Amino acid sequence: MTDTANPPAMREPLRVILVEDSADDVALLLRALRIAGYVPEHALVQTPDELDRVLRTARWDIVLSDYALPALTGLMALRQVFAFDPDIPFIIVSGNIGEDVAVAAMKAGAHDYLLKDNLTRLGGAIQRELREAGMRRARRRNELELLAAKQRLQALSNRMLEMQETERRHIARELHDEIGQSLTAIKLSLDTLARRLGDDPARHLAGEIAAAAGHVLDQVRQLSLDLRPPQLDDLGLRAALHWLVKRHTCEDGPIIELDAPEEVPCCAPQAETACFRIVQETLTNALRHADAAKVRIALKTDPGHCYLEVSDDGRGFDVEAARARALQGASLGLLSMHERATLAGGDLSIASVAGDGTCVHARFPLTAVAREP
Ligand SMILES: Nc1ncnc2c1ncn2[C@@H]1O[C@H](COP(=O)(O)OP(=O)(O)OP(=O)(O)O)[C@@H](O)[C@H]1O
Ligand SMILES: [Mg+2]
Repeated sequence: MTDTANPPAMREPLRVILVEDSADDVALLLRALRIAGYVPEHALVQTPDELDRVLRTARWDIVLSDYALPALTGLMALRQVFAFDPDIPFIIVSGNIGEDVAVAAMKAGAHDYLLKDNLTRLGGAIQRELREAGMRRARRRNELELLAAKQRLQALSNRMLEMQETERRHIARELHDEIGQSLTAIKLSLDTLARRLGDDPARHLAGEIAAAAGHVLDQVRQLSLDLRPPQLDDLGLRAALHWLVKRHTCEDGPIIELDAPEEVPCCAPQAETACFRIVQETLTNALRHADAAKVRIALKTDPGHCYLEVSDDGRGFDVEAARARALQGASLGLLSMHERATLAGGDLSIASVAGDGTCVHARFPLTAVAREP
């Protein structure tokens, strides 16, 4: 291994663990470090316990380790050091290391090996390893920050979806219970009024207003169901999917088939909602974009998972291109389907072939829960 880096021009402090049992070799190493421009502050260890104690008591820049001590081999020391701090540079400095041993040490993760009778490149090797350790630490920090940001984003996304469902449930109930009941009362009163008006010319008008109220009532009920069908909360996923299929089946639309077992185990509400919303979006997409003759929804379960498959025989599309457009803000459907599946602990994939239809697969872990009576 060659080192192009020059030793530091200024004298730099260096906190070094020496795994070494020869006092002469310790003196040799410290001298070589000083010649290389370092001001070493060292701890000497010869057993696993000593190494453990030293690692715990301070922060170290580097470990220089002999290969074979009676109570601690170089490989043992290496594993012990990396278990404590995977980024700390570890250099084997040995008197008589063979090539096969050197290769084994490097494979195990040692950053370099040097012979005690030729320490001229010690300074350069340390400088390089300190620089690389700094980069490894920075990379690890970035990875941790990225992970934390991802977790924060997921928590936020989760919370927003939860709030959206709560809001939808609330508005659906308000529409159905409060506004729906008031409209029903208005319509009944107008019907009664129309009957009582007998031949009065105003009877026709009262009848028309009652019919208009009935029409608005139907729309309010439909809106309430579309926001969040009560089946989802009261009867479960299968019933909600049956409602969804019925809602979208019409004479001039595609045939919509639902294949769901009689007994869909009741799973966590978040997974049921995710499953329902994914079918809703996929079905809407098939009806809006696919020009399909048939759409098939299949739900299967095994003891650990729920599998969802929604396929259409329509025109198909370029999934990657659509996803890229969605990421630029062109649409929300595909992104929210993936997000919902991930947040429910599952995964989702879309396969589509131009001219040969689209198939959406989703899988959720089943955490069976008892439905409230
Ligand atoms: N089953 C399908 N068949 C053909 N094309 C589809 C299908 N599903 C999705 N697409 C294509 O992928 C695009 C993105 O779908 P996505 O659901 O994200 O958006 P959208 O349906 O256009 O709008 P929205 O945000 O309201 O869902 C669609 O515009 C359509 O071109
Ligand atoms: Mg869509």
